[in-house]
Amino acid sequence: MPSIAEIYASPPIGQLLKVEGWIRTRRTTRTVSFVELQDGSTLKALQLVLSHEKISLDRIEATLHTGASIAVWGILRSTPDRPQPFEIEVEDFILYGEADPTTYPLQKKAHSLEFLREISHLRPRTRTFQAIFRIRSGLSFAIHQYFQERGFVYVHTPILTPSDCEGGGQLFQVTTLALEALPRHPDGRIAYEKDFFGRPAYLTVSGQLEGEMLSMGLGKIYTFGPTFRAEPSHTPRHLAEFWMIEPEMAFYDLDMTMDLAEDFLQFLTKAILQRHREELEFLREHYEEKLIHELEKVAESRFIRLSYTEAIDILNKSGKSFQFPTSWGSDLQAEHERYLVEEYAGQPVIVYNYPKEIKAFYMRQNDDGRTVAAFDVLFPRIGEVIGGSQREERYEQLLRRMEERGMDPFPYQNYLDIRRYGSVPHSGFGLGLERFLLFLTGMTNVRDVIPFFRSAGQMA
Ligand code: 4AD
Ligand code: MG
Repeated sequence: MPSIAEIYASPPIGQLLKVEGWIRTRRTTRTVSFVELQDGSTLKALQLVLSHEKISLDRIEATLHTGASIAVWGILRSTPDRPQPFEIEVEDFILYGEADPTTYPLQKKAHSLEFLREISHLRPRTRTFQAIFRIRSGLSFAIHQYFQERGFVYVHTPILTPSDCEGGGQLFQVTTLALEALPRHPDGRIAYEKDFFGRPAYLTVSGQLEGEMLSMGLGKIYTFGPTFRAEPSHTPRHLAEFWMIEPEMAFYDLDMTMDLAEDFLQFLTKAILQRHREELEFLREHYEEKLIHELEKVAESRFIRLSYTEAIDILNKSGKSFQFPTSWGSDLQAEHERYLVEEYAGQPVIVYNYPKEIKAFYMRQNDDGRTVAAFDVLFPRIGEVIGGSQREERYEQLLRRMEERGMDPFPYQNYLDIRRYGSVPHSGFGLGLERFLLFLTGMTNVRDVIPFFRSAGQMA
């Protein structure tokens, strides 16, 4: 039994076929009914023609509603003078599952993305989400392809962790202690030795720390997995559960890593342009007119690199009145990132060498004493897609940095230990899958590029 994609790829004209799918629309005239059938294999629908002589109008009207699932048998006929190249002349059909038109929420008209967010279980029935989830799948494949072809080892880092990689305290705590009756020490502290792991545990905010340990034996590794942040941010760019790709490379310095990040993003953009044309055309037509043009531009032009100090200088001289004023030492806000990318450069920008105070504890300290070898890749429309750095490989410096931050070194013993035995310069970065998908699909909210979103106050 061919899928609709296979029928379009090589139409078996004149043959009797069985096809299964969901009804996108039905239109009934006096003598015939036309049904558009979709099966998820392509965004294209297959036109079915049901003659009322062969199949009674009563039966059609009782069953063939938008959203219902059917199997049909019929002959594939070429239709050179119609908009679609062929159609199925239906002999018979069976109904798998009905869809009551008085309650089924998806009708022929276009629905807003906000409305569709409330029915995430039915979003896969729409072409918009079929296009997005196909691109998400193709992107995941291309990510593995890129690293596998370049000698990187795919590693699985744990989801349950004892430590806060980013030091931002945005952790979901995991416990089997009874919350209404927490065991406590006489001084009031919670008795974590009674908890499942005998110590506090959290959902990971990043696989980087374990990734570094693995790269110190395997050389070049990458992770690709779910990541959790209890950020109470109600923005279109933040999820509580998102997917991150984190390569980590022994013997790489900051420049090599920025080169890798740029090459990686260009490879992925080209792969989507080549392999997902149908989806991109659909999204361009319905959501973002400049989509394909923007992807082509990013695939071809070099990214602009600016040190943080240069970036601040450019922002100060921009003549713009930003909501958050800029001065050396302040973090770049979304409005600053967008100015740098969209107005100043007109293409992706890599900002590097940030003030150490606004970046994570593990980043390598530069000789100037005030910056670290960090970088962010900023993209049009979305801002930061990648954050990365060269890592502090010097034991003493790392320990001092953690002390300065008031961090408890206990959960980081193994992380520190790899600095004591054969430590080497090494670097890596993290790509936020959903952030990058915003760029590739033309969507503007990360909730629309992951099948079931989790964000503060919301679980789809
Ligand atoms: O900049 P971040 O926090 O860096 C890290 O986690 C490092 N450990 C990565 C590394 O060097 N191995 O996060 C990396 C990327 C961001 O640039 C962004 O694209 C994405 O992850 N990201 C989020 N995406 C969706 N929702 C959130 N709440 C995100 N937080 C970060
Ligand atoms: Mg970051």
